[in-house]
Amino acid sequence: MPSLFSNQVVVITGAGRGIGAAAARIFAQEGAQVVVNDLSAEPAAETVDAIRNAGGDAIAFPGSVTEPTFAEQLLQAAVDAYGKINVLVNNAGYTWDGMLHKMSDEQWQAILDVHLTAPFRLVRAAAPHMREVAKAEIAAHGQPLEPRCIVNVSSTSGLHGNIGQINYAAGKMGIVGVTKTIAKEWGAFGIRCNAVAFGYIDTRLTQAKEKGETIDVNGQAVALGIPSTALGDDKTRFIPLQRAGSPAEAAGGIILMASPYASYITGHTLEVTGGSGI
Ligand SMILES: NC(=O)c1ccc[n+]([C@@H]2O[C@H](COP(=O)([O-])OP(=O)(O)OC[C@H]3O[C@@H](n4cnc5c(N)ncnc54)[C@H](O)[C@@H]3O)[C@@H](O)[C@H]2O)c1
Repeated sequence: MPSLFSNQVVVITGAGRGIGAAAARIFAQEGAQVVVNDLSAEPAAETVDAIRNAGGDAIAFPGSVTEPTFAEQLLQAAVDAYGKINVLVNNAGYTWDGMLHKMSDEQWQAILDVHLTAPFRLVRAAAPHMREVAKAEIAAHGQPLEPRCIVNVSSTSGLHGNIGQINYAAGKMGIVGVTKTIAKEWGAFGIRCNAVAFGYIDTRLTQAKEKGETIDVNGQAVALGIPSTALGDDKTRFIPLQRAGSPAEAAGGIILMASPYASYITGHTLEVTGGSGI
């Protein structure tokens, strides 16, 4: 039976955990061949194992999206394995929070690197595999022969700002402008580009900081999560659906924007928030 992403190749960054892992599994269930990136090999391999155990097709390509030459390597690996790229999802990321008056240049830059510079480099590196291929198809056949799109991950912290997240808000709002620019530059080649802005999704980024989860940033362990004092007891009070979203529900927004049902949607930022901020 044909599925939403039959014969499509999807590259997704930060897909070893959380929302990216959930999206990778759904893409594979829907027939895609999936290239799973994550910072470290183990979680990427776990996602690939889960996909293969369910009968799907995936490979892992671990490494940091903030390494200057990584984008070309990741996309070449996808083309070497599967011959083409249909969907690129810029999902990898983390938070390194702090109040503006205490935030270091390093903290500011690291978050812009992962949420803004890395997606820019990945899309630029995708040009030969997506833009140029589509251009040649149009020249030869009058239209692109394959669906192609990019999905960038944003956040309500970008759209509305958030206390303690000046760096993250800048990156996540910046990616909205990047998304619209790609939509305008690559629309002529039939390539769509949309963003998905998540609200409160239940992953390690939103768990209590006291749980002690960390991420390695240039050899430094950066604490992840939100301090319990900031989370409070009423963290879902301003969400109309009154609860956090699951990683699979968040992934649903990515799948929706990449799917054929979104074939006339480009440059849009879809809010997947349970209604918060409306
Ligand atoms: N959880 C939320 O509430 C929420 C809200 C808004 C936006 N987001 C965004 O959603 C995306 C996914 O986050 P999540 O909540 O699933 O978190 P997560 O920590 O569960 O997953 C993120 C994954 O990205 C990987 N990663 C981080 N830096 C990387 C790098 N330099 N190179 C490659 N991989 C890297 C991590 O190893 C991790 O596996 C992020 O961009 C995040 O900012 C999350």
